[in-house]
Amino acid sequence: MTHSPTPDDVRNALRAVIDPLTGQDVITAGLISGIAIKEGKAGFLITIDPRQQAARAPLQPACEKAVAGVSGITDVTAVLTAQAAPGDPLPQGGVGPERARAQWNLSPVENVQRILAISSGKGGVGKSTVATGLALALAAQGLRVGLLDLDLYGPSLPRMMGLHDKPALREQRLVPPLAHGVQCLSMGLLMEGAAVVRGPIITKTLQQMLRGTWWGAEGQPLDVLVVDLPPGTGDIQLSLAQAAPLAYNHGGALLVTTPQMVAVEDAHKAAQMWCKVHVPILGVVENMSWFDDPAGQRHALFGEGGGQALAEAFDLPLLAQLPMQPALRQEADDGRIDAARFAALAARLSSR
Ligand SMILES: Nc1ncnc2c1ncn2[C@@H]1O[C@H](COP(=O)(O)OP(=O)(O)OP(=O)(O)O)[C@@H](O)[C@H]1O
Ligand SMILES: [Mg+2]
Repeated sequence: MTHSPTPDDVRNALRAVIDPLTGQDVITAGLISGIAIKEGKAGFLITIDPRQQAARAPLQPACEKAVAGVSGITDVTAVLTAQAAPGDPLPQGGVGPERARAQWNLSPVENVQRILAISSGKGGVGKSTVATGLALALAAQGLRVGLLDLDLYGPSLPRMMGLHDKPALREQRLVPPLAHGVQCLSMGLLMEGAAVVRGPIITKTLQQMLRGTWWGAEGQPLDVLVVDLPPGTGDIQLSLAQAAPLAYNHGGALLVTTPQMVAVEDAHKAAQMWCKVHVPILGVVENMSWFDDPAGQRHALFGEGGGQALAEAFDLPLLAQLPMQPALRQEADDGRIDAARFAALAARLSSR
């Protein structure tokens, strides 16, 4: 008779996995809970402090591999979760007690190596333009790239990528349509009447778009998933931080601002939000930095130095300064942004 695996077998196998932060095995370190086995399928939780996600994210595949070796186990799902530590400061606004108690799923997203979230405090500073241009420029470097537009209230991806197709469904998962070689998914293509959608539905839709989607292809994961966010520090940003391992594999958030002080002040709030939810900020992109007129004269239409000041305030690199370019606006409207405009930014982000 074949031996039916027990939770103790799973526990014993997990004792071979060492937690890099404590040097203890994951069982002794108290990271594992909720071991369940049903018909050869094993599942359990790895619970960590959200601040430790970068260091501990590799535990998830390591634990799955260890348990997959247990005789009689045919399938393993380890979920890396985090809970805000008691007394942890959480962002103000939109964060009720339910949100504070919510579990964080920090398991890597299947077939996604790295996530770059494009954020800003103020609206209209160029997040969607930067997200789209960056995705195209990373793809032009030969990387496999996805672009996820989470701006429910003003989705830009369909227009900027020249995309009209709704994603298809295969085995209950979304199949993101391709545009210019980039896999694209937009809340705008999924939801109509978006303005009336409430928080819980947003979280559910976000889950589906992240983890219920065929990103990449068999054996060909996406190198980067670029996420375009709405402005501010609301539900969507926090839901993303809780639903995805942004810190995993050198991912994180970018802050887009114009040089103008009002934009920079708002960007400070966005930066503070990412710090509070322990998402690394990779750097600042200053957009609309200047305008060169046809006579070759340079005009600082929105002032000067805002991007640099923001970068210094949070000890971040200023990754790029992008001038106002009427041709870029036209390209965005036509759904064919020239990737070359974002090549230098893409190069800085991929050489880490
Ligand atoms: N460097 C630039 N040169 C010229 N036009 C630009 C530039 N950056 C952005 N734009 C234009 O400015 C407008 C706002 O840009 P975009 O939609 O990317 O901003 P956003 O931050 O995503 O806005 P929202 O907060 O509404 O999502 C668009 O019409 C876009 O084409
Ligand atoms: Mg936008």
